[in-house]
Amino acid sequence: MKVAFSAIELPENGVVVVAVLADRQLSPSAQRLDERLGGGLRRAIDASRFKGKKDQTLTILAPGGSGLARVDLIGLGDPAELDVLRLQAAGARIYAALAGTGHREAFVAVDAIPGCSIEAAEMAAQMAFGSVLRSYRFDKYLTKESEDEKPSLADLTFVCDDDARATSLFASKSVLADAVFLTRNLASEPANVIFPESFAAEAKKLSDVGVDVEVLGEAQMRDLGMGALLGVGQGSARESQLVVMQWWGAGRATDDGAGDAGAGAPIAFVGKGVTFDSGGISIKPAANMEDMKWDMAGGAVVAGLMKALAGRKAKVNAIGIVGLVENMPSGTAQRPGDVVKSMSGQTIEVINTDAEGRLVLADALWYCKERFKPAFIIDLATLTGAIIIALGDLHAGLFSNNDELAARIGAAGAAVGEPVWRMPLGDEYDKMIKSDIADMKNVGGSRGGGSITAAQFLKRYVGEVPWAHLDIAGVAWAKKDSGVTPKGGSGFGVRLLDRLVADHYEQS
Ligand code: BES
Ligand code: MN
Ligand code: ZN
Repeated sequence: MKVAFSAIELPENGVVVVAVLADRQLSPSAQRLDERLGGGLRRAIDASRFKGKKDQTLTILAPGGSGLARVDLIGLGDPAELDVLRLQAAGARIYAALAGTGHREAFVAVDAIPGCSIEAAEMAAQMAFGSVLRSYRFDKYLTKESEDEKPSLADLTFVCDDDARATSLFASKSVLADAVFLTRNLASEPANVIFPESFAAEAKKLSDVGVDVEVLGEAQMRDLGMGALLGVGQGSARESQLVVMQWWGAGRATDDGAGDAGAGAPIAFVGKGVTFDSGGISIKPAANMEDMKWDMAGGAVVAGLMKALAGRKAKVNAIGIVGLVENMPSGTAQRPGDVVKSMSGQTIEVINTDAEGRLVLADALWYCKERFKPAFIIDLATLTGAIIIALGDLHAGLFSNNDELAARIGAAGAAVGEPVWRMPLGDEYDKMIKSDIADMKNVGGSRGGGSITAAQFLKRYVGEVPWAHLDIAGVAWAKKDSGVTPKGGSGFGVRLLDRLVADHYEQS
């Protein structure tokens, strides 16, 4: 779907959308339309339970005395509580209400709301952003859908006085939406399409926007001593890969990019890219195993973030690293009880081959720290089922060794509607991954605190670098349509991290 902005009058026919505030208070455009319709809007509202609450809608089909096919009222709620997230949600709601109506185009009136400080152009841009995010659909494998089953809405025009300003405000949001769509696409693709090499090939395409992309194969990783990552991939027919993306938007300090964690040191993002997690020899039950095609969602967020940063030419130096493996059982697969040596030199007893994400991240994090000396590292991973038990699908789990970084991530998440909840770390949890025969084991002794022991494991691979870990197992995949996120890969994390960078780490 395409969005546009225009200063025209609302059309005399077709589909129009106007806003209503709490307590059935008509917006200025709704007021004018009501007059044009001889009080038709008021009568329709009075004949319904529509109050103008946020997310409420009311459809009036073919209002008499006009050429309009339908008028949709969208509730914006209390003007004092109207913020950018509610506007995005309203845009999403409008898309959802109109997508399957059979109409190809619609016009949404946007005007300044008394009692709300957000200007109309910004309101229009935010609503447009929400509608675009919601319009995402992964339908490339649906070959038999009839025209009647497909969404009809192709053009949504937001009508506001300062359309030029709305257009320019929307430009960077459109770049961000495209980045979120890349992440959603990668997560949605089945594992026979997205495997380590094909993920790497998709990442390579980011060179089109100026990201420098390198791909390390198994031979190079073996030379580097990445025994933890390679052990996970060794049961798969697919070759493991490490993707290294670099965006030097604030100027490159040295040729190979390695800073010294001082001025100009890059910031870094590391993603778990398990393109399919069968569990390996510690195989998972059959029920819902297909979900494990999106066990590379953390890596997909890192790719999407790099696309967003480069796409808007962010004045920041940022590294994105994705450890790509397929976790499969086979005659060559790693066994429970195997001991592997990570690039850091630390040895790991692999008690459970299904606790593979931490093994992949151990080498990816260490490599990131050693090569780039970053100012901080944030990793994203669909790491544990335990985080779903703790937080459901409403917050990502946040673990960090740095209060300032954690606070900034929390604030960025709240600002964009991708909430995180900080979880504890501590020595007593660390002790739970002690092994009798190696430096650590890859699971705790009991199931208790499973997300925390996983984070403790990662912490052993970041040294003193400020670090945060986002366990996105509960939020990476939406089970139903909601707000700006349709059912499926959510892209959770792209907007959060883009916002974090914009708020704190870009040169002005
Ligand atoms: N990829 C899974 C975690 C996961 C579960 C992600 C559900 C998304 C939805 C991870 O590799 C895993 O299998 N974790 C195990 C760890 C356990 C063996 C200690 C788990 O959570 O059960
Ligand atoms: Mn697993
Ligand atoms: Zn996994």
